[in-house]
Order: sequence, then structure tokens, then C-alpha cells
Amino acid sequence: MASRTMFLLDIVLVIMSVLTAFEAKEVQRKEVNGIVHGNVFLTPNTHVPEDCRKIEWSFNDTLRILTTENNGTVEYHNQSLKKRFIYHKNNTLEIIMLQESDASTYRVDIKLTSGAVERENIQLDVYDHVSKPKLTLLDKKEEGGWCNVTLHCVASGKGVIYQWWKDDDPLYEMGSNLMVTLHSEKKALYKCNASNPVSSETSTMHYEKPCTFEGNTQTAFL
Ligand SMILES: *[C@@H]1O[C@H](CO)[C@@H](O)[C@H](O)[C@H]1NC(C)=O
Ligand SMILES: *[C@@H]1O[C@H](CO)[C@@H](O)[C@H](O)[C@H]1NC(C)=O
Ligand SMILES: *[C@@H]1O[C@H](CO)[C@@H](O)[C@H](O)[C@H]1NC(C)=O
Ligand SMILES: *[C@@H]1O[C@H](CO)[C@@H](O)[C@H](O)[C@H]1NC(C)=O
Ligand SMILES: *[C@@H]1O[C@H](CO)[C@@H](O)[C@H](O)[C@H]1NC(C)=O
Ligand SMILES: *[C@@H]1O[C@H](CO)[C@@H](O)[C@H](O)[C@H]1NC(C)=O
Repeated sequence: MASRTMFLLDIVLVIMSVLTAFEAKEVQRKEVNGIVHGNVFLTPNTHVPEDCRKIEWSFNDTLRILTTENNGTVEYHNQSLKKRFIYHKNNTLEIIMLQESDASTYRVDIKLTSGAVERENIQLDVYDHVSKPKLTLLDKKEEGGWCNVTLHCVASGKGVIYQWWKDDDPLYEMGSNLMVTLHSEKKALYKCNASNPVSSETSTMHYEKPCTFEGNTQTAFL
């Protein structure tokens, strides 16, 4: 009975070590952000071992970009990529004049003489600068000394998040709409900050009793 348990345990240990060996071959993906028209450097974390035979760069799952041989030659698989994808000898791929369509998972396969492959994925995201947000008023209600409005903030661009301030205090609202109810205050300054991973822009609106708002961006009253 005991030997049978030991045997099962052995099998489990063998399976586990096979799984660990498999996992160790694929390095966790790294994330890099770039700006449209700018440039980025994609550098794998994986150390290139002595017995490296060749390194292959690809993206969009199947599209090969280039292969470097251990004698130093660099072969581009698509000549039209050569203009913007620049390979540096320190195993860094530089992409210049970034376009949004360059966003992809870049795969680096380090092929060893033993036949083993060490794979690393680099996730590239490309963002445009956030535009100056447009701050407008929605649903203005003035009644019984109350001034209730919704401030609406919108900026163009991918991955934009909004943060609000009243005077110098950050508010907890994170969306593009902020509901405001004012009663006794004479003045207040509202600030909307639109940001994405590469840039941020802010617009402000001044409130004055009884219920006027004046902004530094185009204001639409309903
Ligand atoms: C480098 O190695 C590759 C593949 O082995 C071969 O095709 C190429 O001609 C070599 N280049 C030089 C300059 O030796
Ligand atoms: C090379 O890349 C360009 C631009 O990415 C693409 O339009 C073209 O189809 C590619 N050519 C080949 C042979 O893959
Ligand atoms: C690799 O080389 C390029 C060109 O010399 C340089 O701009 C870049 O900073 C280098 N990257 C690293 C990680 O050393
Ligand atoms: C890669 O995939 C993205 C998104 O699917 C696409 O916009 C882009 O054109 C593709 N690039 C090439 C060279 O095919
Ligand atoms: C304005 O907001 C206050 C506080 O939430 C509420 O008591 C009041 O009924 C609202 N007035 C209008 C016209 O929406
Ligand atoms: C806007 O938000 C971004 C991201 O949180 C921050 O880096 C930036 O300093 C903020 N700008 C202003 C004017 O508060």
C-alpha cells in the first residue's frame, strides 16, 4: 500500500516538474506604452544565453518581423517593415513613427543550439495624446435655493480616464459625469482631468451663486 502511494506521488512529482519546466520557458509578458508618432524600445528581459542559435521577432501571432543569426546577420522577413522597425545589436527592437496599428503582442523566440526555445511576449500599446477635455453642463435644475447640475467632461483618445476636483479636493467620481448639488456656497472651482497612460489635460469650470458656471472650454447650457 505504502509503495503504491509512493509510486503515485512520484508520478505527481514528475508531472509537476514537467509543468514547471514548461512554464519556465515562457517569460511573463511585459507591457510597454508608446505615443503615436513617437518611438519605443522593445527589450526582452530574458538574458540571451551563450548557446543562442538565433532570435526571432514576430507580432500579431504569426507575422515574422526579423531573425538574427548568431553570426550577427539580421534578416527582415518583410522589407516594408525595415523602415520603421530598427534592430539594435543589444537585442532591442526600436519602432519609430509609431502608429496605433503597431499595438500588438510582440514575441521574441530565443532559439538555443539544443533546440529549446525561450519565448518572451512584450505587449505594446500605442496611445494618442489626450485632447483638452470639453466640459459642459447637463440637466441644470435651479429650485428652492438649490443649484443641481451634471458636469460632463469628454476628451478624445483611447483609454481615457477622468478625475475630478472641487477646489483643491479630489472627488471620488471617476466617470465622465459629475453630479453637483450646491446650496449655500458662493463660489467653487471644478476641475476635470482627462488622462491616458501617456498624457493628461485639464479643463476647469467656475461656479458662482445662484447658479452660473463659466468654463475655459466651450460651454453648452441646456
Ligand atoms: C550567418 O548565418 C546564416 C545562417 O547560418 C547564413 O545564412 C549567413 O550567410 C551567415 N552570414 C555570414 C555573414 O556569415
Ligand atoms: C509587409 O508589410 C506590409 C505593411 O505591414 C503589408 O502591407 C504587406 O502585406 C506585408 N507583405 C508581406 C509579404 O507579408
Ligand atoms: C540598445 O541600443 C540602442 C542603440 O544603441 C540604445 O538606444 C538603447 O538604449 C539600448 N538599449 C538597452 C536596453 O541597452
Ligand atoms: C496587426 O493587428 C492589428 C490589430 O488586429 C492590425 O490593426 C494591424 O494592421 C496588424 N498589422 C499587420 C502588419 O498586419
Ligand atoms: C437638488 O439636490 C438636492 C440635494 O440632493 C435635493 O434635495 C433637491 O430636491 C434637488 N432639486 C432639484 C430641483 O433637483
Ligand atoms: C491629471 O491626472 C494625471 C494622471 O493621474 C496626473 O499625472 C496629472 O498630474 C493630473 N493633472 C493635473 C493638472 O492635476
